[in-house]
Parts: sequence; structure tokens; C-alpha cells
Amino acid sequence: MSKPDTVIQNATWRGESHDLLLSGGAVLELRPSAGGQEYADAEIVDAKGMQLLPALIDVHTHLREPGFEWKETVATGLTAAAHGGFGTVMCMANTDPVNDCAAVTEQMLDKARAAFPQGGPRLFPIGALTMGLKGRELAPMGELRDAGCRAVSNDGLPVENSELFRRAVEYASDFGLTVIDHCEDPHMALGTGINEGVMSARLGLKGQPTVAESLQVARDILLAEYLNLPIHIAHVSCRESVELIRAAKERGVPVTAETCPHYLMFTEEAVEGYDTAAKVNPPLRPAEHVEVMRQALRDGVIDMLATDHAPHAAHEKEEPFSQAPNGISGFDTALSATMQLVDKGVLEMDHLIRAWTTAPAKAFGLPVNTFAPGDPADFVLYDREEFWVVSPGSMHSKGKNTPLSGQTMLGRTAALYVEGRRVV
Ligand code: DOR
Repeated sequence: MSKPDTVIQNATWRGESHDLLLSGGAVLELRPSAGGQEYADAEIVDAKGMQLLPALIDVHTHLREPGFEWKETVATGLTAAAHGGFGTVMCMANTDPVNDCAAVTEQMLDKARAAFPQGGPRLFPIGALTMGLKGRELAPMGELRDAGCRAVSNDGLPVENSELFRRAVEYASDFGLTVIDHCEDPHMALGTGINEGVMSARLGLKGQPTVAESLQVARDILLAEYLNLPIHIAHVSCRESVELIRAAKERGVPVTAETCPHYLMFTEEAVEGYDTAAKVNPPLRPAEHVEVMRQALRDGVIDMLATDHAPHAAHEKEEPFSQAPNGISGFDTALSATMQLVDKGVLEMDHLIRAWTTAPAKAFGLPVNTFAPGDPADFVLYDREEFWVVSPGSMHSKGKNTPLSGQTMLGRTAALYVEGRRVV
């Protein structure tokens, strides 16, 4: 075995103290710590008391650049991602101009390189499915793939025209791109950011029924089955969608699905008092749906977690509820929030690791660290004992819009390494 150039000593992995041996940015070995071990010529990092985790992968984020730099930039977004423990990020195409050509993808990648000249979180932009996200003509997917995209999506403007959507799924597969679909019936969902039910009635707001999501989940499953081609379903939020996905997977349909930490943590009651920080699309649902989402993630029916990091400026979220934009800023809090679900017994550590690392890597062909020899040395040192308060001052994203604001969290990323190099 070659000699390590770096050794992360005494980090906690699966409850036991371990040494992580690295060479040339890759894992050499993860082994139980043996007292008095000498590693000649290696840089030694004392990680005593730190929890070791593979770096997280986030397949659904909004970095807002180009076009909406007052909300976030590639630099501030990736900085927040790094502080949140994310070593790989995919960002959506709803920028201005839309990411429907190589020039925009390349601009995003240039900004990422400029922000982290020594290397930061890996960025894989998501190309637009249709030109300008307008749902009329397909985007040039070969060009987008060659520029660095791993997936294509029409993001928050799902394609209603099933003929066009079918052709998009076929065309994408020719280039090895997976289609990500934000499933909603655009008419039923129009102008909402709250679930249709008790809360919408109480607050006197138009609500979005769960069927607005599950109708399109059903269409996508039927298309994926007919074409035998993969479709990835974004931010699943409700029981009906889970039931459709579970049945589809049992039939062997090649669908994958994500949910977000907020659908596991909050019910629709978070919008009480017209709190726009909890206004998100799809909306937060009643408790019975939250319970189903938790179970589906444990079972693997929902393959993975993604933040749907959607930063907005304070003045935008200060608009009246019906005018304020949808979205929750997720990078800063996602790992701490999901670790708290582990602490509470809602998830096990294996669920968290699968949902944040191996499942998204498998679905999108991304590099992943399983701590096997030769894996990229992408990892987090996580301090389980750090208390911190979620606040504008403690968040790295420009978007401070989160219903967790003001809450005390226990546990935070202390360091992120990508390819063996410390990023933060
Ligand atoms: O809440 C959301 N915000 N959901 C989306 O699908 C889009 C996102 C955004 O871009 O702000």
C-alpha cells in the first residue's frame, strides 16, 4: 500500500474512533485508530471528538446566478454549501438568462472556479429541458451535457404538453441525461404556497391540493414505464405521490425521487401568522403526510434528500403572503436538521448517508465517497456538540429565509474536504 500524505486521526465513524488515510486526494484506507500509530511524512489532522461523514451531495439547488444576484451568487451559494457539508451540488436552470445553452453553463462553472481557485464543492449545473423554460422547444441537450450538465429539468415550470415531455425524456436519454421533473399541475398550483386544507381555510388563502402534485407524478410514472427511461421526481411532499412511487418501483419502473428536510420536519402549521419563511412550493403538508414522507425515506421509496435551496432577499419575503416568493434557504441548516432527525430516532445514520450521498450519486452518475480505497476523499468533520442559533448572522447563504430562524441547533459542520483538500 502506498504511504498516506494526510491522516485524519481519531475521528468517530460508526461510534468508534477511526483514522482516515488519504493519498493524492483519494481514500487509502479507513481503519480503527490504533494507539501510538506513527505516520511518517504525512500531514496529521487531529479530529478527536469529530464525527466523520462522507461529504453530502445536493441534486436540487438554486444558485440564482446569472440574473438574480441579489438573492444569491454562485460564490455565496457554494460557500454556504461548503459550510453545510456539501461536496457536490447540482443547480437549477431558472436563472436569467435560463441555463439552456453551453454559454450559461460555462459561466456558472467559471464563477465556481473563480470563487474557489484551489477547488471547492463540485458544481454540476442542470440544463433547461426547453428553451427559456417556456415549454415549447427542446433545449440543445448534447451541448448542455458537453458543457457539464448531468441532468435537465424545466424546474418550477413543468411541461404540461405530454407529447413534448415524452420527446424530452427520449432525447435526454440519448445524451445520458436524466430528466428531473417538478411535478405539479400548473393550473391547480397557480398562485399558492400553502396546502389546501385547514390552514388555507383559516388564513383565507388559495391552497394547493396534494392531487396537484400526484396527478403529474402519475403521468411521469406512466411515461417512464412506457418508455422504460428514467425520470427523477423532485421534492415529493405528500402521501399520494409516495403511494404511486412505491407501486411503480415494485413494478420495476425506473423512477427515482427526492424529498427535502422541510417536508420531514414541518407541518402546514408553520405558515401560521402568514409566515412567508414557510411559504414553499410544493407547500408544507399536514402531519399525516410528514409521517408518510419519513417512512418512505426510511424504506428507500424516496431515494434521496435534496435541499431545494431557494434563497430570496428579505424584502421579497416581507411582501404579503400571497405575493411573497416560494422557497426555503437550505444549505446552512440541512445537515444539522437531518442529524437532529437521527438524534430523535426518526432516521438512522445509514438512511441519512444513503439519502445524502450514495443514492444521489447513483441516480446522476456523480463521484461519491464510501470510504473504500480509491474513492474521492470528500468528507465532513461534524461537531455534534456545537450549539448554534439559526440567524442571519450565522448563515452563509445570502438568503436568510428559513422557518428554522431563531432555533437552536445542536451539531454543525466543522470542516469540509473535497478530494483531500480542506475547503472550509
Ligand atoms: O419553493 C420553491 N422555490 N420551489 C420551487 O420549485 C422553485 C423555488 C425557487 O426557485 O425559488
